[in-house]
Amino acid sequence: MSLPVPVPPEGVDPAWLPSAAFRAVGGRRTLIRGSDPLVETVHGEVAEACRRFGGRVVRAASDGPYDLVLGLGADGLGEEGFAVARSGGTTTVTASGGRGLLYGLFHVVRLGEAAFRGDWAPETHRPAHALRMLDHWDNVAVHPVMGQVERGYAGGSLFWEDGRARGELGRVRTYGRLLAACGVNAVCVNNVNVHAAEARLLTDRIGEVADLADALRPYGVRTHLSVSFAAPIVLGGLPTADPLDVSVRDWWAGATRRVYEAIPDFGGYVVKADSEGQPGPFAYGRSHADGANLLAAALEPHGGTVHWRAFVYDHRQDWRDRTTDRARAAYDHFVPLDGEFAANAVLQVKHGPMDFQVREPVSPLIGAMPSTRPAVEVQATQEYTGQQRHVCWLGPMWSEVLRFRPEQDLCVGELARGGLVAVSNAGDDPFWTGHPLAQANLYTFGRLAWRPDAEPRAVLDEWIALTFPDAPAPLADGLHAVLDGSWRTYEKYTAPLGVGWMVQPGHHYGPSVDGYEYSPWGTYHFADRDGVGVDRSAATGTGYAGQYAKPWSELYESRDTCPDELLLFFHHVPYGHVLKSGKTVIQHIYDTHFEGVQEVEEARRVWAGLADLVGQGRHARVAERYEEQLRSAREWRDQINSYFFRKSGVPDERGRRIY
Ligand code: GCU
Repeated sequence: MSLPVPVPPEGVDPAWLPSAAFRAVGGRRTLIRGSDPLVETVHGEVAEACRRFGGRVVRAASDGPYDLVLGLGADGLGEEGFAVARSGGTTTVTASGGRGLLYGLFHVVRLGEAAFRGDWAPETHRPAHALRMLDHWDNVAVHPVMGQVERGYAGGSLFWEDGRARGELGRVRTYGRLLAACGVNAVCVNNVNVHAAEARLLTDRIGEVADLADALRPYGVRTHLSVSFAAPIVLGGLPTADPLDVSVRDWWAGATRRVYEAIPDFGGYVVKADSEGQPGPFAYGRSHADGANLLAAALEPHGGTVHWRAFVYDHRQDWRDRTTDRARAAYDHFVPLDGEFAANAVLQVKHGPMDFQVREPVSPLIGAMPSTRPAVEVQATQEYTGQQRHVCWLGPMWSEVLRFRPEQDLCVGELARGGLVAVSNAGDDPFWTGHPLAQANLYTFGRLAWRPDAEPRAVLDEWIALTFPDAPAPLADGLHAVLDGSWRTYEKYTAPLGVGWMVQPGHHYGPSVDGYEYSPWGTYHFADRDGVGVDRSAATGTGYAGQYAKPWSELYESRDTCPDELLLFFHHVPYGHVLKSGKTVIQHIYDTHFEGVQEVEEARRVWAGLADLVGQGRHARVAERYEEQLRSAREWRDQINSYFFRKSGVPDERGRRIY
């Protein structure tokens, strides 16, 4: 029985799956072969497209020939791969499993008319990694400081509201469908900071998670849960959560067995332990491998995985102490544990050593633990990149990270054997992501997780073609004009040359150059009257540069070879230091801040010119956000330029207005 396509609630944007995106498929004759729950999803999709566009879909060959044949039967393509070919007027998609067939259908949808032209040799497509996950930092109860969604800029949670499950499963199904269409296959449904109400999702509230899992399953999306390391104490009433204690191990085994009774295809646990106040194994003198392996052992009989986060650092630092370096922390904590993690334990590493700043080097932990399976975590929710009020398409940044080669042979995209993870930017906002153009980040993440070496611009082309079917050339050009360079524009008007932070403490929106400078969080820029930046060299600094393999350790060690965009991350330099660009650091700061604002003005102008080419609601929402982006960009420019002018006393070569 075919599964009906979920209908988004009235007023919810179809994002990259408007019905017109299915025109090419829907106008044709399609044969679907095979039996599997996800084949019914495929059938539902094609049937709905045919209903709209006049085509026909059958399950048994009778009145061929067909334009499109989608069928199970191929061997060796894995659960998610598919093969596609075209000859004699028929496009054929074959897969070994239902998920593969669903991805194959969405591939045909992306191709549009091109899927039905000419003949082409068989191509096979397989995801680079088995896990492509979104972590929702959604709280069940509204947190007094962080609200319903921690670092969420897209309204409330899709899953939870005011302490209970929202129960809007139609919307959750629609979400799963969007995720499948870009290749995401796993969702962690609650925040990594597990508070009291959220902890209970593991036990007496597992039924609410099971409802979400049921809604996501038809689109091949598995459900994961963030759990508290202290669960045996707070939920089980045990006196300890010591990972080596037998009663603790038994408790986790039992709790996990009950999770699988409720959700047979449950993906596993995500754990933030000994990090920013969350409980962890350190309290018992145990290692993070002991902690991770405890949960891995509970999950192992059921085929689940524990994603253990490597975001472990001292958040109670003394700013006077320049030897402690937060950037070093993940490597220092975890590298000695290489080889100690169970096979179903994945170490989830943020892509940079600090915390999703607009520019960071790639974490030296990635590639440094050959006997451990790393997952690489990026942040789609724009905590530090404009909070979905600013346009900041992160595709180019993620692609740079994924192509980085910690050592000669393998790049990050290949090393991420535990998968790719993004902190989700979606919520109950009618546009899903608050800023309608931030949908491009969600889509791009999914596609890069499927194929980390994909060209981000080509992914953006796909997103444009799906989201705006029949887009006239000026619209596609306009979207590229405002999105392509938006990450670099954001970088220009915010914290310079890789130094990071300089944000308002707490909520992290808008500039405050010294906001975190004398705080305990380990996030400093060390600007004084002579210079700025953090000396992380091995020779005279914190030694962080030495955590990289060659050639990176050598390249970053010297201020002469360190790339300009990371100079202040690795070195403390005088304002008169001349960059490779030929400019002094101080002049670079002034110039980029003026340029960044001009680029926002230009993007706002381009967007205004697209008024007749995109729907009115979407146009107005983006236009309104451009006003805020411009206001904020000017504020950043003036705060940063004035701060450094006053500190350094060096005037702008071009005599522009600095306060
Ligand atoms: C950042 C963010 C927190 C989040 C943390 C994490 O520090 O500001 O809200 O909990 O990252 O990734 O765990």
